[in-house]
Amino acid sequence: MIVLGCDHGGLAIKNAIAADLKARGVEYKDVGTYTEESVDYPVYAKAVCDEITSGRAELGILCCGTGIGMSIAANKQRGIRAAVLSDAFSAEMTRRHNDANVLCLGGRVIDCKKAVELARIFLSTPFEGGRHAKRVAMLEK
Ligand code: RB5
Repeated sequence: MIVLGCDHGGLAIKNAIAADLKARGVEYKDVGTYTEESVDYPVYAKAVCDEITSGRAELGILCCGTGIGMSIAANKQRGIRAAVLSDAFSAEMTRRHNDANVLCLGGRVIDCKKAVELARIFLSTPFEGGRHAKRVAMLEK
């Protein structure tokens, strides 16, 4: 299961990612926000992270204006490894090396096409394990 969340600044790219997942038959849960009314991003960061730390979802995507606020909020939750990025190489490497479980994107940084591209890479790239597993485990200590 994939979980999506956003504030008003990330609404358009979150909707684009959701539409792409739906079109490809990928199961997801959208915890909001659902309108352009101004909301507080930490609320949605927590809602997405709770789905992951409870085991109900494996990976999450959080979208705000820059992706930065969402990443700061998400990384305060134990067990969450959130990466804010805007390029394909980082989207791949944060799965391969960091086992990131939350992707944070900025709706005022990238367009909908790029957001879908990055989400696809993030969701389809496996963690490499090996030497990286020890380092990821250190993050939880
Ligand atoms: C909302 O205006 C904006 O501050 C928020 O979407 C995000 O960019 C914060 O990091």
